[in-house]
Amino acid sequence: MIDNHAIRAEFPLLAQTEKGLPLVYLDNASTSQKPQQVIDAIEHYYRAENANVHRGVYGLSERATEAFEGVRGQVQGLLNAASSKEIIFVRGATEGINLVASSWGRSSLQLGDQIIVSEMEHHSNLVPWQLLVADLGIEIVKWPIDELGQLHLSDLAGLLNEKTRLVAVTHMSNALGTINPIADIIALAHQHGAKVLVDAAQSVSHMPIDVQALDVDFLVFSGHKMYGPTGIGCLYAKQALLEQMPPYMGGGDMIYQVSFAGTSFNELPYKFEAGTPNIAGVIGLGAAIRFIERVGFDTIAAIEEDLLAYATAKLSKINGLRIIGEAAHKGGVISFVFDQAHPHDIATLIDQDAIALRASHHCAMPIMQKYGLPATLRASFGVYNNRADVDRLCVALEEALAMLA
Ligand SMILES: Cc1ncc(COP(=O)(O)O)c(C=O)c1O
Repeated sequence: MIDNHAIRAEFPLLAQTEKGLPLVYLDNASTSQKPQQVIDAIEHYYRAENANVHRGVYGLSERATEAFEGVRGQVQGLLNAASSKEIIFVRGATEGINLVASSWGRSSLQLGDQIIVSEMEHHSNLVPWQLLVADLGIEIVKWPIDELGQLHLSDLAGLLNEKTRLVAVTHMSNALGTINPIADIIALAHQHGAKVLVDAAQSVSHMPIDVQALDVDFLVFSGHKMYGPTGIGCLYAKQALLEQMPPYMGGGDMIYQVSFAGTSFNELPYKFEAGTPNIAGVIGLGAAIRFIERVGFDTIAAIEEDLLAYATAKLSKINGLRIIGEAAHKGGVISFVFDQAHPHDIATLIDQDAIALRASHHCAMPIMQKYGLPATLRASFGVYNNRADVDRLCVALEEALAMLA
């Protein structure tokens, strides 16, 4: 067990009370809290550096541009991308996937092509592909999960064929906690000539990612799940793919030359960044990356692995509690249900004890369908959670069950 007291103290919201009690925040898979460093960076930008980027020749705008582009370099470093041209700022993982589906999908997929989508995807990595089905006549092929919530490479091998153009898979499931063997998935897909899109929304703040070592084609994540602000995220894509892909949106910044006769487009990455970007969000994302790098992935993993093991053991002892998602390789997410109570009733009751726990389908309805459930309760850990949070959760669950009985 690691003492993360000092890390927790960096998050001002966690010091406040809810219903007169210290808050236990266990909904980190949904969004994480923000450290002072991130809040300060955004405030500093608005107080001292606010100007539009890429446009002004005056000092203030140059400083804003430098700060903004500096974060692109930080993301490049975080992912070990070969070039900062491969980092596209978007609103979040959802927009990143929609960008790929609209731009790459519409320009390179055709009738009869197949996209393999895992059964554990968040809706944001299924619905954008479904939107292409009617227009392009492509087919979506489900890569099923087993009872423990795991994907098997042997199943993928059976699904891949000459029509497969893409495998869309999450690095870590937000609803089950399963961590997928993305290196092996990418290698196998590439053997069959298929590209791979990895949804790293849940993994990027918990484990190192090296896009070059993985040889991944597309990868997306959101800032707000990694201690950064909402409304900002990134798409990584290989430069050769981005060069071929048409613009996703038109407007300022993404152009080189415009006339009524026609328009030529800006170079990468700006070709995909139409309009004034979320500058403050990017600055905040940069501070979040600095926070993660300062804490370090070894410490983050040690804290979250300890909590996962501790919580799994403790929750398992509660009468009638069933864990959904028991993969051999899991991150800090535990979904569970009770035979005797509905998830929403439990979550509402434990809210009275200042415990923030998600009860939902977690935007992964196909997973709920697989297990025949309307919803699950989900505890998901961040770097500031501790065993005392788990203890309070378990006491509150027991009390809620007693009340419902
Ligand atoms: C695995 C996964 N993918 C994608 C998303 C979508 O992220 P956003 O809503 O930030 O675009 C989420 C959000 O919960 C997620 O957990």
